[in-house]
Amino acid sequence: MVKIVIQKKIKDFKKIIKVDSDKSLSIRSLLISSLSFGLCKINNLSKSEDILSTVEGLKRLGIKIIFKNKFCYVYGNGLNGFDYKKNISIDAGNSGTFARLMLGLLVKTPNAIKLVGDKSLSKRDFRRITTPLKQFGVNFRTNNHSLPLKIIGTDYLKPINYFEDKGSAQCKSSVLFAGLNTPGKTIVKAKKSRDHTELFLKYLKLPIKIIKKNKYDIIEILGEKQFKSFNYFVPGDISSSAFFIVLTLLLKNSKLTIKNVNINPTRTGFIKIINKMGGKIKFINKRKICGEIVADIFVQSQKKYKSINCPVSLNSNAIDEFLVIFLLASKASGISSFKRLDELNKKESPRLKLASKILKKMGVKNKLGKDSIKIFGNPNLNINKKILINNYRKDHRIFMTSVIASLCFGGKWVIDDRDSYKSSFPSFLKILGKLGYKF
Ligand code: S3P
Repeated sequence: MVKIVIQKKIKDFKKIIKVDSDKSLSIRSLLISSLSFGLCKINNLSKSEDILSTVEGLKRLGIKIIFKNKFCYVYGNGLNGFDYKKNISIDAGNSGTFARLMLGLLVKTPNAIKLVGDKSLSKRDFRRITTPLKQFGVNFRTNNHSLPLKIIGTDYLKPINYFEDKGSAQCKSSVLFAGLNTPGKTIVKAKKSRDHTELFLKYLKLPIKIIKKNKYDIIEILGEKQFKSFNYFVPGDISSSAFFIVLTLLLKNSKLTIKNVNINPTRTGFIKIINKMGGKIKFINKRKICGEIVADIFVQSQKKYKSINCPVSLNSNAIDEFLVIFLLASKASGISSFKRLDELNKKESPRLKLASKILKKMGVKNKLGKDSIKIFGNPNLNINKKILINNYRKDHRIFMTSVIASLCFGGKWVIDDRDSYKSSFPSFLKILGKLGYKF
């Protein structure tokens, strides 16, 4: 197992960077392209491992995909256009998003399809997907409601009326994809979560209706409507940007502009949280591309940060960014409090529990509850000891958060599984190089 050792801080910088393309939109653009009729051209698709798993999975179903220059070409076969050979096995690797969204597209397979994943993905609960898909008439063979599982579809799908109560965009999207393949109207009442799938289908002018309420959305989709191929542009990933935003904030005298980032409001909860803590992050040059809002992000380090009693209404819009928010809370003055974060323990690793452990190793006092954490900030936080980060299920966000912490707070950090960041953000270390750090 390859480790990374970091034992010096990063120097202040003033730079302009680009981050890798958005993971959620890259996966959706591939899946939706495969359902269209004709040749789709995707510009700026992410090259991360999760996206490569998606490409390989679709190829198993007879979809031709080629990469040429900076474009990815997907030869869509229309709805119900997958080639359902016998004994197909799809490996989702580390990607919960691909695995869960894909199941929504396999609802008509006459032959059982096996879905497998890596160690981390095999520990995650798939009941949130199998429960609604069973209501459509789909069958599953699983042990313990996790991967590996087998899906057996049907030609007699019935549309459903489903209440998604976890704020999981993966669950909502899987049901919408199943609805796309089902005759009649599928209705999802969903607790607020990222709305990329709905926006994408609306951008393609599919018969989808979105009613936004205060705490949840109601989405209605009419299924079995074929659609033509399209061109798509994938903007930069705001979740990847979060590592560099917090890095800049934790330094003394730094400025950073991140170009062409997706700033969909269902993804920018962490910006609101950080701004409440005194962060002052700005969006410049806002524009709409392929139904999504894109902007350049400007961030500058500030002298002081305030603690926060984090509003739970922002939880689902900041769900992938809590680890770096906790780093900022570690340097804020006062005690920060985060509640109702049970979903955070259901990610690639039990992130809330691991965050508490890592903060303790860093000398940051914190109190972990069942689904909450209190962080006792220290504006003078400086680490002088050795910190070992291991057994974290190769969670890409734990790896990158640990690297950022080491570069800002010091100490000698030894982090196992050096390649784990590649599942979502393969340019992560290269960009740190551009900011002046030599590994
Ligand atoms: C994602 C949804 C979120 C998020 C994940 C990507 C998506 O998961 O954590 O990284 O693209 O739909 P949940 O649906 O479990 O909240």
